[in-house]
Amino acid sequence: LMSPLDASKLIIQKTTTPNEKLANDKLVFGKTFTDHMLEIEWTAENGWGTPTISPYHKLTLDPSTIVLHYAFELFEGMKAYRDTDNNIRTFRGDKNMIRMNKSADRICLPTFEGEQLQQLIDKLLVLDESFVPKGQGYSLYLRPTLIGTSESLGVSVPDRALLFVIASPVGPYYGTGFKPVSLEATDYAVRAWPGGVGDKKLGANYAPCVKPQLEAAKRGYQQNLWLFGDEGYITEVGTMNVFFVFKTEDGKNELVTAPLDGTILEGVTRDSVLELAKDKLPSDQWIISERKFTIKDVAEKAAKGELIEAFGAGTAAVVSPIKSIGWKDQEINVPLAAGDSGELTKQIAEWIRQIQYGEVEYKNWSRV
Ligand code: COI
Repeated sequence: LMSPLDASKLIIQKTTTPNEKLANDKLVFGKTFTDHMLEIEWTAENGWGTPTISPYHKLTLDPSTIVLHYAFELFEGMKAYRDTDNNIRTFRGDKNMIRMNKSADRICLPTFEGEQLQQLIDKLLVLDESFVPKGQGYSLYLRPTLIGTSESLGVSVPDRALLFVIASPVGPYYGTGFKPVSLEATDYAVRAWPGGVGDKKLGANYAPCVKPQLEAAKRGYQQNLWLFGDEGYITEVGTMNVFFVFKTEDGKNELVTAPLDGTILEGVTRDSVLELAKDKLPSDQWIISERKFTIKDVAEKAAKGELIEAFGAGTAAVVSPIKSIGWKDQEINVPLAAGDSGELTKQIAEWIRQIQYGEVEYKNWSRV
């Protein structure tokens, strides 16, 4: 009988050699980890095995393991925050569980009940709670990962898999508040395409994006603005979703991002920005759009003084202001009305922060 993922079967083996905790100013994204990790093996014969939390350790994989050859790998990024009462809170983890299952289904890895994995992650957080840093902008980055572990060079459905979760204490993506970034509009390399897997959080989507980033860096740009097609549709920025604010013909503001057409990662921060904007911005002055738009539209808006602001949205950096976009021989400057960002960028970052740190309760987005 195939066993479902069952958090109540958890076995915990505690470390006898706890790691020292780094001071906040020593934290580098994804470089140090907590004392423990969560693992659950899956087999086609028996389903999900016994979840274990044990001291952080290396994995031992046969060189033929299928993940190493055909990229049967997917991951999630989520964060845990310490609130002022010293509770530990995760932000919208249910969304990560849904996306993780969609990614798994797409590459024939096993799915599971999201609430069970969330409960197991809660247990890991209780055990390693001392690694969740204090302070605004600090959090514990969680990395749920699922890999195919069949030992075979055959290209086929994995009959073994390993789900694991590791956790890394992190600071703000940029040292002091947020720093606006410069983008290069990229059309010679394509991040995702219709019918592809750009909407899934597969490791295989990330490796090919690093070389174009190096190329952009050589020309003095920090990130790629990923375009698609001859029209130059704007899709994403770096590893994040992207938002623009335009002034409309009738003097309103439009907050716009690309629609979820299968080429866009279904970002949890993206969804949060949209929901908060719809809820909190006055609807007689604001239009919130998920629609296709092009780099040409952005250049034209900028030329008319109707480009108000732009920002990336993702779990790691939350929101990341944009200051300029290089496109062909043009340099499109993005206004920074609030100093290091636009006004809405700053406002949205603050709304999200208040929910993540439990200062404001909102739609059960924060789980203690
Ligand atoms: C994000 O949270 O924006 C990411 O996707 C970054 C992660 C790949 C490190």
